[in-house]
Amino acid sequence: MVIRILPNADALADAAADEIAQRLSPASGGRDVGLAGGSTPQAAYRRLAERPLPWSEVHAWMTDERHVPIDHPESNAGMAGRALFDHVPATLHTVPWHEAAMEAAAAFERHLASILPLGPAGIEPWLVVLGVGEDGHTASLFPGSPALDAVDRDFVAADVPGRGWRLTATTGLLSRARHTVFIVAGAHKAEILTTVLSDECDLPAARVAREARDPLWLVDGEAARLL
Ligand code: 6PG
Repeated sequence: MVIRILPNADALADAAADEIAQRLSPASGGRDVGLAGGSTPQAAYRRLAERPLPWSEVHAWMTDERHVPIDHPESNAGMAGRALFDHVPATLHTVPWHEAAMEAAAAFERHLASILPLGPAGIEPWLVVLGVGEDGHTASLFPGSPALDAVDRDFVAADVPGRGWRLTATTGLLSRARHTVFIVAGAHKAEILTTVLSDECDLPAARVAREARDPLWLVDGEAARLL
């Protein structure tokens, strides 16, 4: 595990764009990326749009989605489109809309199987980019969510108390990613970051990080102040 502490949110966004671009460069051999939703990564995605990558060969997907149409303000794919995919010729694979969230998740799971590389243990994303919530969730794997138990699935839906239906990559799928980058910023994340990085933590973000093959943590000084 590597932790890079950047002096501020701007430097963090630049570093995140650089690290993602490096893993999608022609020399890297990888062309797929699962992206986090939320607000932290937006600055990095905007900077990534300016990086000279083979964008027409890049296939992107959201590691989680709210159960809303893509034109809804809460849509993660909508956010990523405005920040990045409206500006580069990459393909953003979006969760198909179904009234039933579980049907949408199952349909997207089948779609991921058709676009992501297949390894010995199942589909193997090249790169996933994740955030961490103040409760220790990552993607839409929330503490106590039944999605955490779906170890034989790649992408599922769960009704999250207080947040509605969420669709998410599972710990199984995330653990098979070749590269994992976490992006965490802000003083409000200092406590949870310290908790998640502690050895005995079993919160979802800690589980995903522990099972990751080479987790890279990109954090700003405010989030790192208790480390
Ligand atoms: C989402 C995200 C979620 C996010 C964390 C952190 O759908 O909200 O995918 O997992 O990464 O909630 O969000 P912030 O970066 O906005 O704090």
